[in-house]
This record gives sequence, structure tokens and C-alpha cells, in this order.
Amino acid sequence: ADRKSIGSWERAKRNGERRALITAYDYPFAKLAEAAGIDGILIGDSLGMTVQGERDTLRVTLEQMVYHTGMVARGAPACLIMADLPFGSFEAGPAQAFASAAQLLKAGADIVKLEGGAAMVETVGFLSARAVPVCAHIGLTPQHVRQLGGFRKQGKTEDAAARMIEDAAALAEAGARMVLMEAIPAGLGAEITRRVRVPTIGIGAGNGTDAQILVMHDVLGLTGGYVPGFAKVYADGARMVREAIGAYAEEVRTGIFPPAE
Ligand code: KIV
Ligand code: NA
Repeated sequence: ADRKSIGSWERAKRNGERRALITAYDYPFAKLAEAAGIDGILIGDSLGMTVQGERDTLRVTLEQMVYHTGMVARGAPACLIMADLPFGSFEAGPAQAFASAAQLLKAGADIVKLEGGAAMVETVGFLSARAVPVCAHIGLTPQHVRQLGGFRKQGKTEDAAARMIEDAAALAEAGARMVLMEAIPAGLGAEITRRVRVPTIGIGAGNGTDAQILVMHDVLGLTGGYVPGFAKVYADGARMVREAIGAYAEEVRTGIFPPAE
């Protein structure tokens, strides 16, 4: 079934079919995710943490996002490919955002994602009118971590929730084709999903969103460290990798590998 076109995601929403996305950052894991039947893949700027070992996403560059987007797009030609606009590549204005988004589309993205609510409405309109499909990321927006003072749940007060509903409606009205919500109350995720016509994606946003997304390294248990409370770990990947590499090293030391012939 079509999972690549944005139209197929809109049909899924209308039919009440839930879809699953995951992040990936390179060719082999994108290929595995597609083979596993995932619907969409995000090249997230979370690669700053999962791949680069940074504390947050702020140092990820557009050039790096373009590089990783190309690898993922080649690995998963049948999935929706979403790529993050990294911090500093779009906030200065619509023209800057368009120049950056164009690079991600050329690298193989079907849709770009950008963080921000009301402040990004104009930019979303500009991109949407110029051939760039946009997913608006609201709620906890990790690029705003310095301003937020940490990675905290958002939309907890009535005022904040009302503002988020308004922001989501305004972003969709401006042309956003999808809305992603991170770390907000489940009721608010469901409410926004009912209010906007476009498909919603949740992470730590309850079970009332049209689709869900998780970070690959959390799902596979590869982080060996902190996993956010809303994530679910489906495998002990760190142990599997450690044991395989350990077995190889041990065989070299003991002369079992390589064999004499
Ligand atoms: O960068 C990322 O992985 C994300 C998801 C957590 C939504 O933006
Ligand atoms: Na991100």
C-alpha cells in the first residue's frame, strides 16, 4: 500500500488507520525499517544525540542533515521521508527556510519538519506556496531547550493548551501538511487531532494522535543510557552488539578467527 505520498497519510487519517514512523540516520537502518513495514522515516536532528554524542540538537548543521537524508532516502524508497530543518537553518525568515528546505528535498525528503508555533506560521505559508510540504513540530521543541530550561512536558496549563490548539490550527491553515506534537497531555494530543484536518503525529502525546513516532535508538535499546519516559524499548540492542563484537575480539585473541585455511 502507498505509504510515501502525503495523500495516503490524509486518507489514513480519514479512515482511522494508525500509522507508525521511526527515526533513522543511515542506509542500513532505513532499509531495515522499511522491510519491517514502517510507514514513515524521520531523519531527526536527534542525530546530534543518537549519532554524534552531543547533549542536545543545537549543533547539528544543514549540511549534516542533507548527508543523512540522502542515505536514508536511498535505503527506504517506499516510505514517507521526513527531514528536520536544524537549528539556525530556517528561523531568520521565509527565504532562509526555503533555501534550506530545498536542499533537503533535493537530498530525497518528501516533507520537511520545523519546530515552532505561531512564530512559524508565515514561514510555513511561504514554503507551502513554493512546493515544499511542511510538518509543523509543536509542544516540546528540543531546539528551544535553552529557552525552556530543559526537556519538559508542555501544554500543562489551560492557557498553554489553548494556545497550542490555536497554533496547530493556524499552522494547518497556513498550509502545514502534518502536525507533530511532542510531550504534551494525551487529552490535548487527541483534541488537536480532532480539530485539524491534517494528519497528526505524536511522541509522548498519548494514543489519540493519527500516527506515532519514536527514536530508533530508543526502540532498539542502543542508547545504553537515558531513554525518555514516553519511549518504549523493544530490544536489548546494546547487549546484542556488545556480545557480537566481544565474541569476534575474543576469537581473534584465542586464534579461532580467522581459520588456518
Ligand atoms: O529529531 C527527532 O528525532 C524528532 C522526533 C523526536 C520527533 O524530532
Ligand atoms: Na527533531
